[in-house]
Amino acid sequence: MKSLIIGASRGIGLELVRQYRAAGWAVTGTARDEPGLERLKGLGATGLKLDVLDAQSTNGLAGQLKGMAFDVVVVNAGVFGPRLAPLDVPTAEEFDAVMQTNVLGPMRVIPQVLAALAAEAKLAVISSRMGSISLRETAGASLYRASKAALNSVLKDASLELAGKAICIAFHPGWVRTDMGGSGADISVEESVSGMRQVLAGLTHADSGGYINYDGKRLTW
Ligand SMILES: NC(=O)c1ccc[n+]([C@@H]2O[C@H](COP(=O)([O-])OP(=O)(O)OC[C@H]3O[C@@H](n4cnc5c(N)ncnc54)[C@H](OP(=O)(O)O)[C@@H]3O)[C@@H](O)[C@H]2O)c1
Repeated sequence: MKSLIIGASRGIGLELVRQYRAAGWAVTGTARDEPGLERLKGLGATGLKLDVLDAQSTNGLAGQLKGMAFDVVVVNAGVFGPRLAPLDVPTAEEFDAVMQTNVLGPMRVIPQVLAALAAEAKLAVISSRMGSISLRETAGASLYRASKAALNSVLKDASLELAGKAICIAFHPGWVRTDMGGSGADISVEESVSGMRQVLAGLTHADSGGYINYDGKRLTW
């Protein structure tokens, strides 16, 4: 079995690589810099240099994946951006950095991986429960939340376009102890990733277009 993890230099992405390798899969991971690529090599994965903020970099991805057939593709790369109070206005630069990484990035990457999907492939984006509008009870992190709500919309379109070909889902990985989640988060990266791998393994076409917690619970948009 083969998996491709986009944004695999650290955190959830690197743990996805570690666990799929430990399960005997052939894994390709992407990183933006040499230390990240070295970490991937150290786990026995194939490392590709990719920055989703750089169109030239993403445009080259399909060529690098020629001949591959991935059973699982996870688009994980993301940033939280500035910690703003509710109704605080981000600068144009802050807005662009978060939206381009979290929304434009997956919009660029998904078409690049299509030719490299195995039959019955699973394509997951790492969204966040913070992107849910229906589950929201307090204000805050408006820019990050807007980016993940937009990512959810992008994923839904991908699921419709790829119906019958690939099973496309948006994940909430939990609140995870990574650089982004912080040391006070709810769960370890091992627990988040082992949960998501279990969910991915059990997906059928009926699940495509779904928004799913790392433990398999269905979320509302
Ligand atoms: N941790 C949580 O509690 C939590 C909760 C909900 C959702 N998420 C989502 O889960 C995903 C992974 O988060 P994490 O907690 O593992 O965060 P993290 O430790 O900060 O890791 C973020 C990853 O994204 C990569 N990345 C950022 N910008 C990129 C770009 N322009 N091009 C390519 N890669 C880029 C980083 O690469 P570099 O090393 O090069 O920066 C790194 O590999 C994100 O999409 C995040 O929004 C996390």
